[in-house]
Formats: sequence, structure tokens, C-alpha cells
Amino acid sequence: MAVDKNTLFNEEIRAEIDSWIAKYPADWKQSACMPALTIVQESNGGWLTSELMDDVAAYLDMPPIAVYEVATFYSMYEHKPVGRHKICLCTNVSCLINNCDSIYEHLKNKLGIGFGEVTGDGRFSLKEVECLGACGGAPMMQIGDKYYENLTPEIVDSILEELD
Ligand code: FES
Repeated sequence: MAVDKNTLFNEEIRAEIDSWIAKYPADWKQSACMPALTIVQESNGGWLTSELMDDVAAYLDMPPIAVYEVATFYSMYEHKPVGRHKICLCTNVSCLINNCDSIYEHLKNKLGIGFGEVTGDGRFSLKEVECLGACGGAPMMQIGDKYYENLTPEIVDSILEELD
């Protein structure tokens, strides 16, 4: 099906995706799928809609199902609204044996939300994630692009206080 690519996204988003497409051979546009999803997700306040995933598929000449497969496999893609600060708490083995449960309890009590939820003011959301590769600093969490390691409830408090 022919797609009018000028109607997809806005000029700035298309330019950003194009810069990723240019990194790969001309017939491997689909290699830009992950960065394209990241760019589009950021432009939509941190989450993807079916329409946006369809637009990415059309832009990269991919079947929509192939884009959905990527977007639902990796935990950095969201499919419902998230908070301004997305807290991703690792609950995998190293973090588990280093007491991530107490960090989760602390976050739950402090923010009044559990995994998969957003605070009423839209400031924070909480997500359970698998190993983020920082096992040496367990227990750990990611907020935005930053990793926070060797967490204690007190350290969590000071981190959250710094955020707007
Ligand atoms: S188990 Fe938590 S970062 Fe690896």
C-alpha cells in the first residue's frame, strides 16, 4: 500500500527518524525501528498508541505486527500513559536478594501507587522491570535516562526530592 509519508508525524520527528535510517543500508530501513519507536514515544509524552506504531510501520515499510512485536517485547516502550518521571524498579535476582522488596514497599507507601500505576498528579509512575544490567549496584532503579544504585529508603527519598 502506498503511504504518503509527508502526513506521518511532524517534520522534526521525520528528520530525526531519517537520521537513524541513514545509518543503515538503504534496504534495511527496519533497522531504525527501535530508535523510531523511542522518538515517537517521547513526542507523545512517553507512551505509544496503536496509531503511532502503525505510523512507524508505514514509515519504515514494515508490517505493523513486526513493529508491535518490538514495541511489546522491550520494557522501555509504554502502551499507556506514564508519569512525568517513570520509575523502573528492577526486581530480578540480584536486586531481589539485595532487598528490592523493601524499596518497592517504600515507593508504594510514599507515592501511593503500585506497579503499573501513575500518581494522581501525573508526576510519577512505577514499573517493575527485569535486570537492567546494573546488578553490581543492586538494588537499583532507573528514572528517565539515569540509573540509581545501592538504594535504601533514605536514598530513594533524596532522589525523589531532587525531581520536579
Ligand atoms: S538484577 Fe537488578 S540490575 Fe541486574
